[in-house]
Amino acid sequence: MSEPTPRFWQIFFEVFESLPRQGPGNRACFAKALALCGGLPPSPMVLDLGCGVGGQTVHLAELTSGSIVAVDSHAPSIGRLRAAVISRGLEQRVIPVVGDMAGLDQPPASFDLIWSEGALYNLGLEKALGLCHGLLRPGGRLVFTDAVWRKDNPPPEVKASFDADYPGMGRVADVLATIGRSRFSVMGHFTLPDEAWWDDFYTPMEIRIEELRGKYSADSEALAVLDQIAQEPTMHRRHSDYYAYEFFVLLRAGE
Ligand SMILES: C[S@@+](CC[C@H](N)C(=O)[O-])C[C@H]1O[C@@H](n2cnc3c(N)ncnc32)[C@H](O)[C@@H]1O
Repeated sequence: MSEPTPRFWQIFFEVFESLPRQGPGNRACFAKALALCGGLPPSPMVLDLGCGVGGQTVHLAELTSGSIVAVDSHAPSIGRLRAAVISRGLEQRVIPVVGDMAGLDQPPASFDLIWSEGALYNLGLEKALGLCHGLLRPGGRLVFTDAVWRKDNPPPEVKASFDADYPGMGRVADVLATIGRSRFSVMGHFTLPDEAWWDDFYTPMEIRIEELRGKYSADSEALAVLDQIAQEPTMHRRHSDYYAYEFFVLLRAGE
């Protein structure tokens, strides 16, 4: 498959940066995963990895009393989160940081909770588990979502889409096996329901694509990119039985 062009990325970010989130997830699933964490300290130190514009960062601020460092490598997303933090008066509790989660400038064993929705796969799960183990205190929790296959033999368009974005994607059992080889144990896991793909992600994405089709009505290159981006929610409507997003809640082994 050919590399995306600079124009593709310009239009891609014009769509994605405006969304409440950059991947599947919603407040109800967030709350369910947080409840599975059990007894966190009253004011936990929290790290949100690959936070995007901060959909789940705001939930972390609203549903815990913690202090949150929220990291993403895409500076405009952190810019949007900064604006949200200021407008909600959360400056004392949320620190948005532009950075690469693979090379964070954070002391070891300094967090009680690491949260990461749809982002750890960028590092590879095994490497991400090692990194998070180092950053968490003994007894700390790691909560993340990961895309997984639900059925074999996906239609070619589904296989091509995930091969391009996440070639190593496995099933829930594969993720659990990787966790089993790490220094974490599983406290719980569950599959995101379909509305978690639509409410804050694909529905606003389709609305945004329509807006931009108006803006770029005389620009065939931009319209072709918008058609390409629109294939993702269309594919989900047709084939979501082949893949899912799974929430995993882990406990860091103490020592
Ligand atoms: C699928 S989006 C999820 C964003 C957000 N957690 C959400 O669920 O709305 C993945 C995010 O990971 C970020 N990301 C990818 N690689 C990264 C890295 N090495 N360090 C920090 N952020 C990264 C991307 O910029 C993107 O915002």
